[in-house]
Amino acid sequence: MSKTFNRYTVTAALPYANGPKHIGHLAGAYIPSDVYVRYLRLCGKDVIFVCGSDEHGTAIPNQALKENTSSQAIVDKYDALIRDCFVKLGMSFDIYHRTTEPIHHQTSQEIFLNIYNKGLLTEETSEQYYDEEAKLFLADRYIVGTCPKCAHTNAYGDQCEKCGSTLSPRELINPRSTVSGKTPVLKLTKHWYLPLENYEPWLREWILKSHQDDWKPNVYGQCKSWIEAGLQPRAMTRDLDWGIKVPLPDADGKVLYVWFDAPIGYISATRALFDELQSGNIKFATPRRDFTGAKKDDWKKYWQAEDTRLIHFIGKDNIVFHCIIFPVMLHATGEYILPDNVPANEFMNLEGDKMSTSRGWSIEMHEYLQDFPDKPDVLRYALLTNLPEAKDSEFTWKDFQAKNNNELVAIFGNFVNRAVVLTQKYFDNKVPVQGLLTDLDKKALDDLKAAPAKIAASIETFRFREATANLMDLARVGNKYLAETEPWKLAKTDLARVGTILNVSLQIAATLSVVAEPFLPFTSRKLKDMLGVGELTWQQSGGNNLVKEDAPLTYAPLLFEKIEDVVIEAQIKKLMDTKNAMELANQPVTPAKAEVSFDDFSKMDIRIGIILKAERVDKSKKLLKLQVDTGIDTRTVMSGIAEHFTPEELIGKQVTLLVNLAPRKIMGVESQGMILMASDKDGSLKLLNPSGEVAAGSQVS
Ligand code: 2FM
Ligand code: ZN
Repeated sequence: MSKTFNRYTVTAALPYANGPKHIGHLAGAYIPSDVYVRYLRLCGKDVIFVCGSDEHGTAIPNQALKENTSSQAIVDKYDALIRDCFVKLGMSFDIYHRTTEPIHHQTSQEIFLNIYNKGLLTEETSEQYYDEEAKLFLADRYIVGTCPKCAHTNAYGDQCEKCGSTLSPRELINPRSTVSGKTPVLKLTKHWYLPLENYEPWLREWILKSHQDDWKPNVYGQCKSWIEAGLQPRAMTRDLDWGIKVPLPDADGKVLYVWFDAPIGYISATRALFDELQSGNIKFATPRRDFTGAKKDDWKKYWQAEDTRLIHFIGKDNIVFHCIIFPVMLHATGEYILPDNVPANEFMNLEGDKMSTSRGWSIEMHEYLQDFPDKPDVLRYALLTNLPEAKDSEFTWKDFQAKNNNELVAIFGNFVNRAVVLTQKYFDNKVPVQGLLTDLDKKALDDLKAAPAKIAASIETFRFREATANLMDLARVGNKYLAETEPWKLAKTDLARVGTILNVSLQIAATLSVVAEPFLPFTSRKLKDMLGVGELTWQQSGGNNLVKEDAPLTYAPLLFEKIEDVVIEAQIKKLMDTKNAMELANQPVTPAKAEVSFDDFSKMDIRIGIILKAERVDKSKKLLKLQVDTGIDTRTVMSGIAEHFTPEELIGKQVTLLVNLAPRKIMGVESQGMILMASDKDGSLKLLNPSGEVAAGSQVS
């Protein structure tokens, strides 16, 4: 028997605040969850939508190391960036919280102690990898090595980003520390484990029996294979100095595992929401509906009442944590409800390859918003029509352009624009009277009436691609209706008929303004303002009297604009350029040469010289013949830099020169020294100049 639910708690995966997030993340968890929640709100449901930044785990200090800053500075920087992008993309969280907030630390410690005090955690001392140079245990992202499943040489200690396998550090082949680069040693350490194997019968009952029909096959299938492979105890603590302290007396230097605290972030965000609502001291919340009278303790209803429907929106790499580990934690407390559904998406690829920020093959949210600041809805639409719901999907810039030009502009925008412009032209911008209805009118109104339920059915079953197609179908109904009735041809002969057609068209546009809201919130706002319709509910949509006769329309610009080829070509070029730049940046640095003694070094006489003359050398593409003032004398130096500098640009330049290199003949000319250069990763050469002007002959030591 299906349960009756009276309220909803909807969560979207907390993004790691260790870097910018790309549009693949949007397609995985964020846009689908936002559509779902916006729809529920329009239906008048009691819903909260929570998210926030995931600010713990080794990913954070690892990034701090790369950026040569502190972990706190990293989370502050990326939380602000991600938060800002979500606002600009229309994500309608009731709260976007942070896991570094005290209330989150408190909630996580309470839940840890709750489970610990019930005797449900096991304590175990075992050997783990340790970096002797950095004096650090190497968990999760502090360690890399070769993946035992796919041989990828840079797999992390918790996961291989190439094949997606979940790993543990001891499985890595040739492990090395990401902190020092050194090979780690094994050292004993104590941790607290969640014995997942004890919950296998319960998981079989709860997932395999009860959710066979309502969970997506990709989610159900992953859970099944985890359970059938045999569950193992999983450490819930780490030796780290960044995170939430393990609240036990004998746990110095230990913090909670990030995957223990992160999902609790949903609960602490809910607590923070109701704290802020009651106190009126709003810091992280953006309440999206009327929460009048909300009390601090109301958070419990959303996490502990059996009639609350909990839904987690995530990407496929998070399935095991949301369907197995977190539910086991919640179940172990005996106090919390379990997710009723976890509609995880697969991955979205980009132009034929896996999306990856570190490889430079991605479209970062903030970069999209910089380049297309007035087009958040176009991205939402392009992603929605292409969501990786059943299998991995692919974003291409050409498809993005086509979705905009051929659908948003040519169908949705065109329909609305024709209805509004003709109303301006023939009816002084006021909604005309709806007269007698023809069969064509009735058919259009029937289609209009049926559309909201059709869209709703797709949303409720998490088929957002289909829902988006159903939305566009309603705009198609409008377009087709105008094409068939051709009101522009009737103005001279039958203005009343034109009025009826436009009235029907405006009714369709009004419903579009409501049912488009979950998908295209910015467009919906513009359209509602244009038509002068107030905040209508989902149930009211589909009606034949949403815009009232004689009501004035407001002038408004076009809803969508065509995107030209040059814009798309520039994006494709930018993608290729970023990838190439990243490849160069990621190239390993040439290892240091063998040690030399100071005596050996001091044998070299290095000085600053000034180039007096520079000329090309016949039959050589590489060589330039230089006359250099060394302060001691003026001498000839043959230098292989002709592909990097023109003779003209070198004249007058200060350079660093090895003056006591034994002379040698090059192309028949005796070269009396060597100009020192820095050779960059891309093979380009740069001169070494002193930071300020010095006299020729100044010694370098
Ligand atoms: O994969 C990730 O980006 C994680 N930060 C998701 C955490 S979801 C939840 F548990 F908070
Ligand atoms: Zn792998």
